[in-house]
Amino acid sequence: MELTPCSIEQFEREGYLFFPGLFRREEIKVLLDEVPRLYAQLRPENVREKGGDAVRTNFAAHMYSYPFAKLARHPRMVKPVMQILGEELYMHQFKINGKMAFDGDLWQWHQDYGTWKNDDLMPEARAMNVAIFLDEVNEFNGPLMFIPGSHKLGVIDAQHDLTTTSYPLWTIDHDTIRKLVERGGIVAPKGPAGSMILFHSCLVHASTSNLSPWNRVSVYLSLCAVSNHIRRFKRPEYIAHRDFTPIRCLPDDCLLTDYDVALPWKDGTPESALKPQLAA
Ligand code: SIN
Ligand code: MN
Repeated sequence: MELTPCSIEQFEREGYLFFPGLFRREEIKVLLDEVPRLYAQLRPENVREKGGDAVRTNFAAHMYSYPFAKLARHPRMVKPVMQILGEELYMHQFKINGKMAFDGDLWQWHQDYGTWKNDDLMPEARAMNVAIFLDEVNEFNGPLMFIPGSHKLGVIDAQHDLTTTSYPLWTIDHDTIRKLVERGGIVAPKGPAGSMILFHSCLVHASTSNLSPWNRVSVYLSLCAVSNHIRRFKRPEYIAHRDFTPIRCLPDDCLLTDYDVALPWKDGTPESALKPQLAA
C-alpha cells in the first residue's frame, strides 16, 4: 500500500491518517479469535485493569502468537510507515489493548514519544503508531481521541502518572490540553473492525472508559526507525524491545495463508526480558 502525496501532506498537517475497513472481515477474525486465549494466560505481558481481571493491555504477542507474529510483518501496516520515515523499521512496542465492555478504563492525555524519550531514551520522534481495530469502534466504547496538529509542537511537558490507571504514563496537564484543543479541536476516528489508524508519536491523544456493552479491542504496532533505536533498557523488554533487526514484511495475504515466522517466546518470556538491563 503506497501513500499518495496528498495523504502524506494530510499526515504532515493533521498528524494522523485513517483508513476505514482496510482489513477484511476474515482477516480480522483470525486475530480476534486468538485474543481470549492470549488474555487468559498468566503471563507478565498481560497488564490487567486496576482492581480487576480484565486485560487492559497485552504486550509482545508477536513474540509468541502465530497470527500476531504475522500481523507484525504485515505490509499494509509496515510499508506506509517506512514510506513516511524513509528508513527500515524495528518493532519498539506491540500491544493489544482490551478496553473491554464495562471494564475498559481510560487513557489520560499523552504523547507516546514523551514516554519513549523519558523512559527509553529514544533519540528522536522518528517512530510511529499504527493501530488496527479488531472490534467496531463507535462513540460509546471509548474511541481514541486526537488533537489534530498537536504533533507539530514536539515534546510537551508531562508528568509521570503512576496512579490514575494501571499503566504508568507521562501525561499532559489539563490547562495545556485546554489550550491545545482551542487551537486544534478533537477528533475520534470511528469505524468497522479492520479499520487502521497511523499516527505520529508526538500526536496528543487519550481515550475515555468503556461503559458500553461492546469490547473495543485494538492492536498497536509502534514502529521505530532502526537508526533511532532506544538507548536505555530501563523498562522490561516485553514493553520496550531491544532487538533492532529490521522488519521483513510478509506478502499481503499473510493473515489467511501460512508463512514461517519465529515465535521465540512461545514457551515463556526469557528471564532477561523481564528486567531492566543496565548499560554495558
Ligand atoms: C495508547 O494511548 O497507547 C492507548 C490508548 C487506547 O487504546 O485507547
Ligand atoms: Mn498512546
